[in-house]
Amino acid sequence: MVTPRRSAVNLRAPKGSVKTAVQDGRVDGMNERAADKTADIEPWLERWRVGRIGWHEADGNRGLKRHWQAVGRNVIVPLCGKARDLLWLAEQDNRVTGVELSLLAVEQFFAESGLVYELDDSGSLPVYRARELPLGIACGDYFAFAETGFDAHFDRGALVALPPTVRSRYARHTLERLEGDALQCVVTVDYDDERADGPPFVVPREELVRYWPRLELRDRYDDSDDMPPKFRDAGVERLFECIWMTSS
Ligand SMILES: C[S@@+](CC[C@H](N)C(=O)[O-])C[C@H]1O[C@@H](n2cnc3c(N)ncnc32)[C@H](O)[C@@H]1O
Repeated sequence: MVTPRRSAVNLRAPKGSVKTAVQDGRVDGMNERAADKTADIEPWLERWRVGRIGWHEADGNRGLKRHWQAVGRNVIVPLCGKARDLLWLAEQDNRVTGVELSLLAVEQFFAESGLVYELDDSGSLPVYRARELPLGIACGDYFAFAETGFDAHFDRGALVALPPTVRSRYARHTLERLEGDALQCVVTVDYDDERADGPPFVVPREELVRYWPRLELRDRYDDSDDMPPKFRDAGVERLFECIWMTSS
């Protein structure tokens, strides 16, 4: 069990990297490709700046807690935001690495969990590493995150947050980070997407298993109480959360 302590170290923005400029909203000096990328990521950074983070679950994800039983895993959590799930997974004796674009999200995660962290600059992205727990958040663009060898993957609000054009690249990049027999737990959403459009997007079963063929549907439950208000306004009546897991 974790005994939270207040963070004693101030978060430092990583030195001399494109992602620092991106996080600041600066694009000066970037080449055209980097500026294109900024077009994709700037809306997320803006959401964190103004606090429009309706996806955040203060108590973590219930499907994860219901179905995840693994311990001793090396878990990657792409596009992690400040999800409580990071802490929960670490408390189950797993080693956890989140990857998140926004430094504000990382700051909030550590402030709210009361963990002390230190900055590890040795990898492809700077990692804010908790001292008390095997938990770190790599801060920057997930597509620049190069570490591999993870034997578990938790995905909530990541695949479904991305438009169809980016999803296959995201899925491939994730597979490249995982060992061949890695455990995967993926949360998707199901609602009438004729009425409203994502994010979060409906990712149909055929598309999901094309990316990650070992996934099987484990659970599907009504999550309408947590439906984004824009869906309700558009006439969506019910929203389900689906839990997909590999069997091993
Ligand atoms: C819908 S939120 C979900 C957050 C978290 N998984 C959760 O369940 O609360 C998507 C998150 O992905 C982050 N994000 C978007 N694009 C990213 C990228 N290219 N690299 C890293 N993080 C990214 C956003 O800043 C945001 O925090």
